Amino acid sequence: MNKILITGGAGFIGSHTADKLIELGYQVRVLDILDPQIHGSSRQFPDYMHPQVECIHGDVCCIEDVSAALDGMDAVMHLAALTGVGQSMYDMQHYVQTADSGTATLLEVIIKNKIKLKRFVLSSSRAVYGEGTHVCQQHGQFHPKTRKRENMQQGFFDVYCPKCNQSSRSLATAEDRPLHPMSVYAWTKNIRKIYACMRLKPFLYPSLCYDILMFMGLANHCKIPIPAWFPFFIHA
Ligand SMILES: NC(=O)c1ccc[n+]([C@@H]2O[C@H](COP(=O)([O-])OP(=O)(O)OC[C@H]3O[C@@H](n4cnc5c(N)ncnc54)[C@H](O)[C@@H]3O)[C@@H](O)[C@H]2O)c1
Repeated sequence: MNKILITGGAGFIGSHTADKLIELGYQVRVLDILDPQIHGSSRQFPDYMHPQVECIHGDVCCIEDVSAALDGMDAVMHLAALTGVGQSMYDMQHYVQTADSGTATLLEVIIKNKIKLKRFVLSSSRAVYGEGTHVCQQHGQFHPKTRKRENMQQGFFDVYCPKCNQSSRSLATAEDRPLHPMSVYAWTKNIRKIYACMRLKPFLYPSLCYDILMFMGLANHCKIPIPAWFPFFIHA
């Protein structure tokens, strides 16, 4: 396995992943639409892209673009998505279209063209776990649902124990915690995973799905509003 396609590979995680894969000796191709919200008005791939990356400007929702990008590839890392949790609640159509249709397009082209992939890697998100795991001093661990509107209106943003209504503490959240997507963004992550498992398993494609935490850093070119909270999660 040495030719890897990264969808959304001009973004924060994709560009760093491409650098690392090239350092490890892989050939990398990137398919990216250069979303103006991330990349501004330029139609050029950013300067930080590794010079050995083959860059294709295209849309993961477009069959022709995806077919060209998949040609000759051994593996796919599917990262292309819109990434604002809050924004997904009002720009629903755009978020759902990119995530659902993009994943469906990739899977359709792979299956119809009988592309013999050795691995399909999909990015999920910690958002699929909702509030994560909390602990009440008296009643132990619990998995909260939605916070109460009346508490938040009064400025109480803690998560309260459903049994005694005392304030709780957040804990590291294990990967087998029950899923509780609470945003359009989180639901799209969940649905992408279901599509991939449903369509790739019967063909025995090895696939991996990573629940990514919140990453921010120097090459984070994101102009999307990100909420100022940082729950701590771990993978079991
Ligand atoms: N960064 C984080 O903290 C984090 C956390 C959880 C999950 N994730 C997931 O990891 C993946 C990568 O995140 P990121 O932080 O690098 O995001 P990013 O916004 O920096 O990169 C996403 C890339 O996808 C591209 N893109 C958008 N729509 C496209 C389309 N229709 N066709 C082709 N390319 C398209 C954008 O132009 C951008 O370059 C996403 O799926 C995201 O949901 C990220």
